[in-house]
Amino acid sequence: MTRPIWIKNIHQLATLASNKEGPRSREAMSKLGIIENGSLWIEDGIIQAVGSTIVLEQQYAARREEAEIVDATGHLVTPGLIDPHTHIAFGGSREQEFEMRLEGVPYMDIMNAGGGIHATTRMTRECTEEEIISQTTRRLDSFIHHGVTTVEGKSGYGMNLESELKQLRVMKKLQEIHVIDLVPTFMGAHAVPPEYKGREEEYIDHLINDMLPVVAEEKLAEFNDVFCEKDVFTPEQSERILEAGKRYGLIPKIHADEIVAYGGAELAAKVGAISAEHLLKASDEGIKEMAKAGTIACLLPATALYLREEAANGRKMIDEGVAVAISTDCNPGSSPTTSMPLVMNLACISMRMTPAEALTAATYNAACAINRQDRIGSLEVGKQADVVLWDVKSYQELQYLFGVNHTKAVWKKGVKVVG
Ligand code: NIG
Ligand code: FE
Repeated sequence: MTRPIWIKNIHQLATLASNKEGPRSREAMSKLGIIENGSLWIEDGIIQAVGSTIVLEQQYAARREEAEIVDATGHLVTPGLIDPHTHIAFGGSREQEFEMRLEGVPYMDIMNAGGGIHATTRMTRECTEEEIISQTTRRLDSFIHHGVTTVEGKSGYGMNLESELKQLRVMKKLQEIHVIDLVPTFMGAHAVPPEYKGREEEYIDHLINDMLPVVAEEKLAEFNDVFCEKDVFTPEQSERILEAGKRYGLIPKIHADEIVAYGGAELAAKVGAISAEHLLKASDEGIKEMAKAGTIACLLPATALYLREEAANGRKMIDEGVAVAISTDCNPGSSPTTSMPLVMNLACISMRMTPAEALTAATYNAACAINRQDRIGSLEVGKQADVVLWDVKSYQELQYLFGVNHTKAVWKKGVKVVG
């Protein structure tokens, strides 16, 4: 029997609780369910009680000796952060491309010349499962030290049956051995591999006929993602791939309108995608259609910064009624970071979101973007005890003191894993 944990005297407890289920937009993104001088009682990995310290002192008067007490005087406590969009399981790195881009070579030119995604695909194909596990473990360790307790991860650096399965199996193994919950997405449609150059439709046939059935059979993924972009997959091709995934029970996601406006946001609404990602160049019409369809916008301001592009218009999307989530996009090319706190800062600075909206986007709405809001994303009775204690006193301060890791302690399923 493990001892219960009682985190008490919390200066500001941001529960993110709400009596309305489902992705939050507009004013709902600003409601953080704040409790001043709050308390959390955790037992068996689950939150048993949330409230003010005075109330929990009475409620647990008979059991206070049993509990391990954490005094959180002067601190902020939030749900574990959730990263709903990463490409975490890859081999190698691309620091030389970073220098090339700083000298002015565009991201897509590097990719079209065989670098970028193709370079990481070559390196990932060459790695053994063990090598990818060890490189990915370092990144997951960094995530947990930044207060992130759940991470989505995409394949897409294999782009043939064997290597796509290798990436997905690596994620399955990591799910068993690492404290972080890893949520897998199949992204065989990350690019057209060089061996299929000029034969795009054949690659799509291969993906649909040979990859999807095995991914579904082995239950290796929950979502199916496509890079819908000029010179990658057209909206028509993307639709075909996502509809095929749906027939295997995979929920659609789309990398949409990242480099040019290409109808990706509109397509996300049309196919009923759970989320559309990037959206730097999304059209006004596309944003309206996403709001109507209830598609979550998963925005990646660190990627925009790293590519020296203007970030997506998060402010406008929220005001138009789109539920916004945010993510690192952790990948070796366009966003090699594991810092969700930095991404929250950037959501405020470059997308004009408020500190409260940024926290909702990194917790509850992020949980919605990976279909996990019944278990994580808020601190409510019955939910998984994924909790972060921050070395600041308020969520406003967390966003204000930017570029710094304020994580002080992290509990994953009620077990202290950091601090
Ligand atoms: O989300 N845009 C496509 N895919 C990744 C980048 C992958 C890479 O550069 O390796 C992204 O930014
Ligand atoms: Fe991405």
